[in-house]
Amino acid sequence: MADTIKVLISEEQVKERIKELGAQISKEYEGKSLHLICILKGSIFFTCELARYITVPVTIDFITVSSYGNGKTSTGKVSIIRDLTEGIQARDVLVIEDIVDTGRTLSYLMEMLKERKPASIKLCTLLDKPNRRTHPVDVEYVGFEVPDEFIVGWGLDYAQNYRNLPYIGILGDEE
Ligand code: IMP
Ligand code: MG
Repeated sequence: MADTIKVLISEEQVKERIKELGAQISKEYEGKSLHLICILKGSIFFTCELARYITVPVTIDFITVSSYGNGKTSTGKVSIIRDLTEGIQARDVLVIEDIVDTGRTLSYLMEMLKERKPASIKLCTLLDKPNRRTHPVDVEYVGFEVPDEFIVGWGLDYAQNYRNLPYIGILGDEE
């Protein structure tokens, strides 16, 4: 039985919005350099696309945090599976996330990173499900607000599948 996926945001719309975010970020960080933290695996596609449109000098590091199991609901547990390879002290840091859902992962991660004393730290997410928030988190840059559905594509997976979809889709029930 195949999953059904309905297009929510087209490839063109996603790319256009990322370009806009890149321009906005470039303007707001003018005269500085920016250290991007890509949260693996989900944010990899968004980070790469966004970085291309940031015109201030950019460095990139990766972190792997797990809060979800293989299904559609949270296991409720947040842990660091792979830490950053560089220190962030005194740097201007932008954390890049694929989607902020309950906010549990990000509220934990942002607090942990703040303890490493960056000059500044902000959060940029491709997608936001504001209705689902249980843990407050400040999100500076949002690509799109999305409804409370299970989303795939642009790095978002269902049991590790569909990350490579070039559009953002809603995963339906198997038929
Ligand atoms: P939070 O801690 O509840 O905000 O969950 C954030 C993480 O859950 C994201 O980085 C995703 O990996 C995953 N997630 C939340 N909603 C979805 C979804 O609709 N599709 C795929 N993954 C999701
Ligand atoms: Mg995931």
